[in-house]
Amino acid sequence: MTTFTLNGKKISSSAPGDTPLLWVIRDEFGLKGTKFGCGIAMCGACTVHMNGNPMRSCSLPLAAVSNADIRTIEGLEARHPLQKTWVEEQVPQCGYCQSGQIMQAAALLADKANPTDEEIVQYMSGNLCRCMSYVRIKRAIKSAAQ
Ligand code: FES
Repeated sequence: MTTFTLNGKKISSSAPGDTPLLWVIRDEFGLKGTKFGCGIAMCGACTVHMNGNPMRSCSLPLAAVSNADIRTIEGLEARHPLQKTWVEEQVPQCGYCQSGQIMQAAALLADKANPTDEEIVQYMSGNLCRCMSYVRIKRAIKSAAQ
């Protein structure tokens, strides 16, 4: 049994310890906002926060999150500035990667309130978007930082 905090609620999972957290979140707890893209920690679609740090949940074994604080897109603080600027900048196209993008961006802004363009590009470089929404993502992050 693995116990951890999911979006502020203490929960337990009886899934095997090597089960990727992504599948526990989606299949056991029904939180479908976290997406499966590559399954090998290369695309960022599955990004969640573990103790405030962005992590690839597809490659994070359940056993590794014992007693950790896990936050998904569903648990992102209500009315986070990124939610507003993501809409204003009309960032999503197909939308599939966007929850991972937002979780990565939220971790950046929590760490650095006013990142430079270069810092944004660097921090977001592991989150891929097949629709090439990178320019709009950067604008939305800049706008949320102001
Ligand atoms: Fe986890 Fe691609 S699905 S990084």
